[in-house]
Amino acid sequence: MPTPEHSASATPAWIITGPTSGIGRRTALELAEHGIVVLVGRDPNKLEEVEAEINARAGGHAISVVCDFSDITSVRRAAAQIVALGLPLAGMLNNAGIMPNRADRTPQGWDLAYTTNHLGPFALTETLIPHLPDHANVIFTCSGVEDPERKPAVTAGFRGARYISAEASARGEWQPGGSSKPGFDAYATSKQGNLATVLSFARETPRLRFIAVEPGFNPGTGLGRDANPALRFLAKYVLAPLAPLIKYWSTPKRAARLLAGVLTSQPHPSGVYYDENGKPMLGSAQVRDPAFSDRVVAETRALLAQVPSDTR
Ligand SMILES: NC(=O)c1ccc[n+]([C@@H]2O[C@H](COP(=O)([O-])OP(=O)(O)OC[C@H]3O[C@@H](n4cnc5c(N)ncnc54)[C@H](OP(=O)(O)O)[C@@H]3O)[C@@H](O)[C@H]2O)c1
Repeated sequence: MPTPEHSASATPAWIITGPTSGIGRRTALELAEHGIVVLVGRDPNKLEEVEAEINARAGGHAISVVCDFSDITSVRRAAAQIVALGLPLAGMLNNAGIMPNRADRTPQGWDLAYTTNHLGPFALTETLIPHLPDHANVIFTCSGVEDPERKPAVTAGFRGARYISAEASARGEWQPGGSSKPGFDAYATSKQGNLATVLSFARETPRLRFIAVEPGFNPGTGLGRDANPALRFLAKYVLAPLAPLIKYWSTPKRAARLLAGVLTSQPHPSGVYYDENGKPMLGSAQVRDPAFSDRVVAETRALLAQVPSDTR
C-alpha cells in the first residue's frame, strides 16, 4: 500500500494512547506544542476534559477517539476512525496500560492486563502502520520489569516476563517460578510483549522507526490505582516528591518531556530502547534474541486473527 501523502506544510498529527492520566496526560499536553493531538482513550468524559484543555490553548488542536484496549473490536474500530480523520499522521505513542493486582478477564475471556497492554496496542499499531509516513516514530512505553536481571524490579517483587506463548498469556498462564505478587507476572509479560513488538517490527518495517521507552518508576500515577489506600497515599505524597532524587525513578512531567521529545524528533535508530534519561538501554537476554521476539509477534498475530471482524 502506498504511504499517505500530505503537503510538507500540513500540521503534523500525533497519536497518543492513554492520554487521560499520569504520564500520558502530561505527554498529550506536551505534544500539543508540536501539532494536532489525536487522543485515544477509553473514557469519553476524561477524553473530553483533556481535549478541552488543549483546544483552549492558543493554536491547540486535539481530537478524541474512544478506544478500549481490552476489546480488540473496539481497537479495530478506533483504528478505522483515526484513518478516516484523514489527518497528516506523523507518529504514534502507545502509552495506555494497566497493572491490576489480581487476575482479571476481558469480556472475551482473555487476561485483562495482557490484552490491554500488549494485544490491543499491537492491533492498533499493526492497523495504522500502512498509514504512517516514512521515518515516522512509533513508540511503546515499555517497562524494565520484563527483565529478571533488573535489580530494582526484582527488589519490588518482579521476576521478569514469564512468557509461555501468546495463547497461554491470553489464558493468564505464566512460566513457573514467577512473582508471589498477584498481577506482576501478567504485567511483566505484557510489557515484554511491547518490547518484542518494537524489536521485531523494527526488522520487519525498516521505513518506520520503532522505539521503546522505559519512563522510569513514576510513583503516584494511576497505574497503582488498585493498591490499598495507604500505599496510594504513600506513593503520591511521600514517594512522588522523592522521585527526582532517585536512580531509575522519574516524574510524569519529566517522562512526558522525554516521550514527546523522542516522538517529535529525528532521527532515531529503529529498535532502540531508551531509559528514563533518554540513554540507550538493553532489554532482557530473552527479548534480545530475535527468534524470540519474532515468535512473540507471530503468535500475537495468530491469536488476534481468531477475533472475528466487526461486521456492523
Ligand atoms: N508509572 C510507572 O512507574 C511506569 C513505569 C514503567 C512503565 N510505565 C508505563 O507507562 C504507561 C502509562 O502509565 P501511567 O503510570 O501513566 O498510568 P496511568 O496514570 O494509570 O495511565 C494509564 C492510561 O492508560 C489508560 N488505559 C487503561 N486501560 C485502558 C483501556 N482498557 N483502554 C484504553 N485506555 C486505557 C488509562 O485510561 P483511564 O484514565 O480511563 O484509566 C490512562 O489514560 C503504561 O503503559 C505503563 O505500563 C509506567
